[in-house]
Parts: sequence; structure tokens; C-alpha cells
Amino acid sequence: MSKDPLIIFDTTLRDGEQSPGASMNRDEKVRIAKALERLRVDVIEAGFPAASPGDFEAVQAVASAVDDCRVCGLARALAQDIDRAGEALKAARQPRIHTFIATSPIHMERKLRMPPDQVVERAVAAVKHARRYTDDVEFSPEDAGRSEEDFLCRIIEAVIAAGATTINIPDTVGYTLPHEFGALIARLIERIPNADRAVFSVHCHNDLGLAVANSLAAVLNGARQVECTINGLGERAGNAALEEVVMAVRTRQDVFPCDTRINTREIVPCSKLVASITGFPVQPNKAIVGANAFAHESGIHQDGVLKHRETYEIMRAEDVGWKANRMVLGKHSGRNAFRTRMKELGIEFDTEEALNEAFARFKELADKKHEIFDEDLQALISEQILEAEAERVKLIALHVCADTGETPKAKVVLKVDSEEKTGEAEGSGVVDATFKAIESILNTGATLLLYSVNAITTGTDAQGEVTVRLEKAGRIVNGQGADTDIVIASAKAYVHAVNRLLSPEARKHPQAADV
Ligand code: KIV
Ligand code: ZN
Repeated sequence: MSKDPLIIFDTTLRDGEQSPGASMNRDEKVRIAKALERLRVDVIEAGFPAASPGDFEAVQAVASAVDDCRVCGLARALAQDIDRAGEALKAARQPRIHTFIATSPIHMERKLRMPPDQVVERAVAAVKHARRYTDDVEFSPEDAGRSEEDFLCRIIEAVIAAGATTINIPDTVGYTLPHEFGALIARLIERIPNADRAVFSVHCHNDLGLAVANSLAAVLNGARQVECTINGLGERAGNAALEEVVMAVRTRQDVFPCDTRINTREIVPCSKLVASITGFPVQPNKAIVGANAFAHESGIHQDGVLKHRETYEIMRAEDVGWKANRMVLGKHSGRNAFRTRMKELGIEFDTEEALNEAFARFKELADKKHEIFDEDLQALISEQILEAEAERVKLIALHVCADTGETPKAKVVLKVDSEEKTGEAEGSGVVDATFKAIESILNTGATLLLYSVNAITTGTDAQGEVTVRLEKAGRIVNGQGADTDIVIASAKAYVHAVNRLLSPEARKHPQAADV
């Protein structure tokens, strides 16, 4: 018996980006979109075009870059938002507009200040308006998990009649439990007379750690689209993790009446790319993509796995893309080999100049580091993108001194708006001294929320990838830097975060915006 397709709607670039500090620029979004295309997700929600000019351009860029997935733009149930989404998606081969309005009593009364009749009217008008741009229109009753069921039935029936082809049921605040959420989906499909004219979808948040469980319960009760993110990134506690939903369905085909078309071998590379670009590392014990997800520590387990793998393993590490670091290029590799490997990683250069610059960086790295892995190449491109973005402050030089028994010192030279400035400071360690020296020049007054170092590959010559998260006046930004020297990587990450802090682009949050 053939199985139903389960549509995977990835919202890493939209809801995932709503994790405080996880904002991505246009080029980073395109790189992730290309990785999602290799993963074979069905729909990529690329952003919220009305939120800011940056979001608009990013959706436009993703729409042009992607061929094999539907590209979706989010819009409030407002004509001007839908027009922006329609405009941004012009280049998409398969555009989708996703429009939403809140339906729970608390949201309608306290946030929208609208009576239910008006909410239905707005939803219907929004769907009809979106249909002018595309026949692929998704509607979400926001906070459906806390909405009244009769009202959900009424508004959903009306929007399907108006032309919505996907109905997404969001558990916006992560409140529901799997048995209730599954039963809700079954009843909605049963009660709504025109339910057969739309695909039912779910979008679960993880506030109680139940996003994946709720999504799977919904699938068992008739949902045929799941909205999820790589590594479970997303607003507050995040969204359902794509890798967990996909592997649960794939591993338990004895239970699920459907399957996805995901190329599971691309899961780990995609997870690593998202972690590196957003600066949100994956916890080691995270299912599927955590470093320990397939590591056996106990002797009994090791013995069992050696005798027969399936004694303790329900999935194969290689099936989700875990592989030993493979040396891909070295000091003697030429431009063609470099360009070809980059292309395989989904990175193409618009100009010969960009290729030459990346190749020069590669040669520089290959001088310091014998073997170059895919992860190194990804980090190298991140660097190039970040530097192009760094308009106001550039790191020119760094000198640190850390003799045993002496107070560590750092001297930093920065170019600030094309003027070179030097700062010196002492600190409890060389990284602390470096950050203080940078601050002695810039005086940003920002608070350091997070400092983390990750080895990109193995070995003592591995590049360290540093994330710095800064906060100022409620704005949170992440900066990244990579280098074989982790103090230099730290300085680069701090400077990058400062540049983001200084950039005027402020994002408007979709759900927080007034409707
Ligand atoms: O969580 C939510 O309700 C959303 C909607 C916009 C679908 O992200
Ligand atoms: Zn959400």
C-alpha cells in the first residue's frame, strides 16, 4: 500500500530566526536555503517580507536561488503585508503566501481588540487577497492551541471556501499535550465540511518540551504537513526539530501511514551549517544531531553494539549524515578543485573576484592547517560574508601576552570608520583582555551575554569557531569568528557582533506587531 506524503515545511529562516540573537543576513539565508534544498524539504518559509527591507530582500534572494522547493513568505492578514510577500516571491518557481491572524479569546480581546466576526472577515479577505498572487495559500489561526474549537471550525471553513489550500494549526505558546492536540486535529478534520479541500498542517512550539511529540500526535490524526526547524531553533524554547520529526517518522514506518521525501544524509551537514551561521551550538546529547547521539559510553552497550549493532542502535549514524571528518582539500589543491568542492557544498561565486578572494583565504588557511575539511570551507565562506558585512569596524591587528604569573594583556588595532585606533587592556585571561581592549576603543557599553568556542574539526590545528552574543538597549546580536588561533577568532567574533549592533537595521517581530 502506498503511503501518503508528509510535507516538511521548514521555518528555520523565519521562526528559527526569531530566536533572540539568531538573525541572519541575506547571503547566510541563501546558503541555508540551498542546504534545505539539498535536504529536500518541501517548503522553505524564507521570512516575513513586511517586517523590514532586509527581510524582504532575503525572501527575494531565496526565491531566486531555490528551484526544487516551494518558497513561502509570511504575512499578517493585512493587504499591505500580503502585497509585500507577493512582491518578494515574484521570482519563486513555486510561491506560497502564509497569512495568519490570532483566534484565541485572549489574543482577540487583548492583542487585536477585535470581535470574532471581524477576525473572520479579515482572515477571509486576506486569503482572497493572497490568491491574487498565487494559488498556494496557507492560513494559520494563531494560538489555535488555546482557541475555542467551534470558532476554529467556523474560521477554517470560511478560509478554505475563500481559497486557502493549507490550514496550519499552531500551538503558538507550546501549551497543549500530545493526546489533546492529536484529538483536536482529528476533530477539526472530521467537523469542517470542506476539510478535504485543504492539507492540514501543524506548527508546535516547545515551551513544555512537547513540540515534536505534539507534531507526531497530529500526524497520527491526519495532519499531512509539519512545520519545523533545523536543530529546533525558534521563538522562545523553539519549534519542533525537523531532524527528530523526520527520523521518528522514518524509523517508525510500522506506525506512521506517511513518509517524507527528506534525504536524511543531509541532516547533519545542514544542522552544522545552521549552528555555525546562527551561533546556536547543538547540545551534545541532542537527538540525531548532537555529538553524542550515536556514542556509546557504557561497556555493556559497546559490547552489544560490537556484537550486533541493533542491540542498542535504532538508526545508523551514516543514514543521518554522520561521517568521519574527510580531508577534502590541501595545500596543493588548485582553483578548480576548490571551486568544484564549493559548488558541491552549494556555494557558488557570482564573480571571478569573489572566487579569487575565497581561494586566497583558502591558501592562507592551508598554510596554517594541513588538511582542510568541509567544515573549514563553510567557515571560510562565513568569514568572507561577515567581513563584507563589517562596514564600520575592522580588526587590523592583535597582540596578546600571557606569561605564567603575569596579568594577561592585549593590544588591539581597529579601523573605525576608516580611522585606525589602538587600545590596550589587562584582563583575567587573554580573551578578557582582548575584549576590554576593543571596548577601550569603541565604548559600546554592551553586555556580553554569551561567549562560546567550538572546534570546527578535530586536532590541535583545528579552527576554533567563536560566538559572542551582545545585548544593548534590548537588542541582542550574535557575532562569529573563526581562526586556528582562538584569541584571534574571539576578537573577530566580538568585532562582528559590534558591527551588527551598530547596523541600523532593526527587525520588527511578526507576532508582536500591531495588527
Ligand atoms: O507560532 C505561531 O503561531 C507562528 C505563526 C505565524 C504560524 O509562528
Ligand atoms: Zn511559531
